[in-house]
Amino acid sequence: MTLKDCAAVILAAGQGTRMKSALHKVLHPIGGYPMLFHLLDRLAEGGVSRQVLVLGAGREQVGNAVSGRRLEIAVQEPQLGTGHAVMAALPRLSGPETGIFVLYADTPLIPLAVLEQMVAALGSDGPGGPPAIVVLGFRPRNPGHYGRLITDADGALSHIVEYRDATAAERAVDLCNSGVMLFEAALLPDLLASLDNRNAKGEYYLTDCIAAARGKGRRIAVIEAQEDDVLGVNSRADLAAAEAVFQTRRRAESMEAGVTLIAPETVFFSHDTEIAADVTIEPHVVFGPGVRVASGAVIRAFSHIEGADVGAGAVIGPYARLRPGTVIENGARVGNFVEIKKARLGEKAKANHLAYIGDAEIGAGVNIGAGTITCNYDGFGKFRTEIGAGAFIGSNSSLVAPVRIGEGAIIGAGSVIVEDVESDALAIARAGQKMRIGWAKAFRSHRKAMTKKKPERND
Ligand code: UD1
Ligand code: MG
Repeated sequence: MTLKDCAAVILAAGQGTRMKSALHKVLHPIGGYPMLFHLLDRLAEGGVSRQVLVLGAGREQVGNAVSGRRLEIAVQEPQLGTGHAVMAALPRLSGPETGIFVLYADTPLIPLAVLEQMVAALGSDGPGGPPAIVVLGFRPRNPGHYGRLITDADGALSHIVEYRDATAAERAVDLCNSGVMLFEAALLPDLLASLDNRNAKGEYYLTDCIAAARGKGRRIAVIEAQEDDVLGVNSRADLAAAEAVFQTRRRAESMEAGVTLIAPETVFFSHDTEIAADVTIEPHVVFGPGVRVASGAVIRAFSHIEGADVGAGAVIGPYARLRPGTVIENGARVGNFVEIKKARLGEKAKANHLAYIGDAEIGAGVNIGAGTITCNYDGFGKFRTEIGAGAFIGSNSSLVAPVRIGEGAIIGAGSVIVEDVESDALAIARAGQKMRIGWAKAFRSHRKAMTKKKPERND
């Protein structure tokens, strides 16, 4: 038995009121990507044969977000508990699968390896036959209000008790229910049919399936997960904790793959960041979505990079900002306080200090002087700047787009370039310099005579 023999029910019908958000809880991002998508992607990657998403409160928002994905939606209205939520999915679970996972959309960080372990457990025969249910337990630092896994005299799981319904002795048990379970598909309808709502919350608890299966003489298997793997997101504080777990994993994966992180705890990745081996990332770097960095590149401290391809051996930063649509070719350099958007910086080109380059094509070996600005926007539309290979743009130049600078051309510092410049030409567009010999000295004596006092301090 493998994940391919399993369907997955993902519960997301709850209100999520503790997030205090107009955005549905399961759409809040972790690593810049909705938490629900983390889970759905992992299930798809593992080859789960069918995904049934249970929606209730805020179902339009979530429904729109998942449109185009291969999954089925079941509606639970009203929401009468986790058992009731799985009942809502039942009509979509009559397929050939032999196992049915129940997962929570707000518990998105569960690793595939843990799900695979559960599948192996469901498929394994033991004394008392194969288990009817595999429960994923964990021992949280603070067991708080989680359901408790209660064992019988033989050490076998007998039932799960919700915190509100538990006795003091039961509350003292530290093995808790993560909420993730795997059911023998053939048995699930009967187990659900046996549920009632005679409990502290007046809900149909999915957890009562355990005692029901035991009542049918069946065995329950328990697998223990790490707390981080089953972290549930109910509040903004939980969301930050989940983000921290995600980032910690990504940093470890990157280093494992040959990336140097000088201060890993200060580097933030997106769900899709791709960093090749032998890249060095200095402290305090943030990767937004859509970034690829090729081997040998160095991302220097305090840089913010999103939607960008960084070529082999390129050096970015410190304090650089690369925005979506940026391509930095091999060996190019982007220095401090340089912002690049929707632009290609050619091989070994340099923009080392204080520049804005937007909607531009910069050829190989071009030198962009400090303070260069591509004036790409006239308040209505965006226009392109093209700079041919080997051109030299003097400091503090404004290139008013649309404009084209030919290969090898030189732009004099401080120019405002509004017309195309031919290859290998020099273009200077600034007021000519004037000099009046002795003027400053004469000015000072005149002012002293007028005021008969020291000049006012001007600092
Ligand atoms: C549940 C478990 C508890 C476990 C805990 C782990 C039950 C009865 N209790 O408690 O043993 O320790 O999770 O976090 O299962 N949902 C629906 N429809 C509903 C109710 C809930 O879809 O009618 C969804 C929620 O959106 C959420 C998940 O099910 O994704 C869990 O619901 P929640 O109300 O948080 O359950 P807990 O009381 O925390
Ligand atoms: Mg909960």
